[in-house]
Amino acid sequence: MSKKEELMALGEGSLLHTYNRLPLVIDHGDGMYLYDVDGKAYLDFCAGIAVFALGYADPHVDAGLKDQIGKIVHTSNYFYNEPAVTAAARLTAFAGMDRVFFTNSGTEAVEGALKLARRYQLNRGREGRYEIVAMEHSFHGRSMGALSVTGKPAYRAPFEPLIGGVKFVEPGDIESLLDAVDEKTAAILLEPIQGEGGIVELSDEYMKEVRAICDERDIVMIADEIQCGLGRTGQDFAWQKSGAEPDVLLLAKAMGCGIPCGAILCKEDFAALVPGDHGSTFGGNPLAGRAVNLFLDRYEELDLAKNAAKVGDYMKKKLTELAEEMPQIVGLRGRGLMQGVVLAPEVGAGAVMKLALEERLVVITAEGNIVRLLPPLIVKETDVDVMIPRLKAAILRAAEA
Ligand SMILES: Cc1ncc(COP(=O)(O)O)c(C=O)c1O
Repeated sequence: MSKKEELMALGEGSLLHTYNRLPLVIDHGDGMYLYDVDGKAYLDFCAGIAVFALGYADPHVDAGLKDQIGKIVHTSNYFYNEPAVTAAARLTAFAGMDRVFFTNSGTEAVEGALKLARRYQLNRGREGRYEIVAMEHSFHGRSMGALSVTGKPAYRAPFEPLIGGVKFVEPGDIESLLDAVDEKTAAILLEPIQGEGGIVELSDEYMKEVRAICDERDIVMIADEIQCGLGRTGQDFAWQKSGAEPDVLLLAKAMGCGIPCGAILCKEDFAALVPGDHGSTFGGNPLAGRAVNLFLDRYEELDLAKNAAKVGDYMKKKLTELAEEMPQIVGLRGRGLMQGVVLAPEVGAGAVMKLALEERLVVITAEGNIVRLLPPLIVKETDVDVMIPRLKAAILRAAEA
């Protein structure tokens, strides 16, 4: 047995089988590349599912995290700690928000936002306003609350009854939104661009309409930018394209450079939670706080949103050329460095993902037979030039199989 087979067998024998993992055992990463235990290099257009915006082994991040580990990694929220308070001040300023609650994951950010929305309405004496309107095909996480607002019935069904008071509407359909919103609605929750749901972008008109409905009826507008935020679309936040600024903004993934953390950001008027309402042992710990600071340092220094826009346009151009030559590609979606390649039904995106690994390329899938491309935001045009022929080879092999 090779070391790789040994480790895979060890994992299969002891891990709870909640994932169908790919046959790859990662050893380390460097820049745009992942290396397996056999020393093979893989060009990474997944970035740990939109986490490694700075690529792997960024020297500034590595040095900063090591320094923080040498000092302290956890304090509890009985105390202040410098990395978390500086991260809070910088992140709120960067996002144009007033306050932040730090979590350990995206799911927890969604959970907290649901509580915040209900608390906001309750604080205004509206006891019956507890419902959340969420989008079909959305993904917000796997805990009971986040799952309750996730628009994938197959994910929810085995765990019913969930929290209740949730209505789903078809993304982009204003009529169905207007039908769903009533005197019980506390919040509207949306991803400006659905990730897992198939790189489905809400139009500027729809985003503006949601903003107007929320303003008219004092409903909390919550944008989940856990996947599409922080430069990925070529702007700091995906909502900016429409100008429809949310009241509550949820972040996670990229903000921690791989250290687990997330954030519920809100405007002052929506800072509805008070002492005793919410908490977390690890949320806002010094290591995660330092990671957020390190992320922001590099994000600004490298002008990553600008790079995402530039290389994203180049990637769209190259994918368009590929789609023109390949009948197996039936559509392209997304913008910046969040793009999807829609495949013809006879070519499975799952098969392409597996075969891409044999071509030394990491890609993932999304709902709707889509290959999802989420490279680190440091990606260059030359990396796209390496990616395209590998993706093409994987699609051709999947089509022949
Ligand atoms: C849009 C969105 N929201 C929430 C989550 C859940 O985040 P986490 O896996 O960090 O809990 C994800 C994860 O993929 C996501 O893409």
